[in-house]
Amino acid sequence: MNSFLDWVGRTPLSLYLGDTAWTIPTIQAVHIMAVAAVFFSALWLDMRILGVVGRGQPFAPLSRRFAPWIGWGVVVLLLTGLLLMAAEPTRAILNLYFQIKMAALVIVGTLTWAMAAGAKADSPLWGAPETQGTAKLIAIISLVLWALIITAGRWIAYGP
Ligand code: HEM
Repeated sequence: MNSFLDWVGRTPLSLYLGDTAWTIPTIQAVHIMAVAAVFFSALWLDMRILGVVGRGQPFAPLSRRFAPWIGWGVVVLLLTGLLLMAAEPTRAILNLYFQIKMAALVIVGTLTWAMAAGAKADSPLWGAPETQGTAKLIAIISLVLWALIITAGRWIAYGP
């Protein structure tokens, strides 16, 4: 693993990212804007499931509207995140907070996919989610995991 990371650190892309002043802050800014889009969309869907917002609105059209923002937002996060990793390969991948963040992302990604796919298939669980204990539990777990991902992302800079 370490020799692979050393090799990544010597690639022209990694050297370029390290040598130019504007690239890393710009990539970080895009990463943070994508965090905002993803988190807002997930928050809105989870709050609808919990019955805090949009009680009169059915969940399925809301999910059709916001789920693509989450999906494409995560693609942007993946691309910008990979560039940040290329700049300093040993900094993130061996970092405990980065590993926690990726594990939480896999779980919340699966939950979000299940939500969107269930709503699309007209599953009764998502018909009136504010009355369904299981749907509410999924929404709460989802919110906790998104918060954990954001916190762990910020903590990468201070982690072991
Ligand atoms: C999809 C794969 C992702 C990868 C590969 C990735 C990778 C990274 C990397 C390498 C950093 C820089 C850490 C540092 O050097 O200090 C970072 C920062 C961060 N990431 Fe991600 N990330 C991903 C997804 C996400 C997601 C889904 C979120 C939250 C919704 C997120 C939130 C953050 C936050 C809040 C920071 C700190 C930004 C800062 O303080 O400047 N990331 N990420």
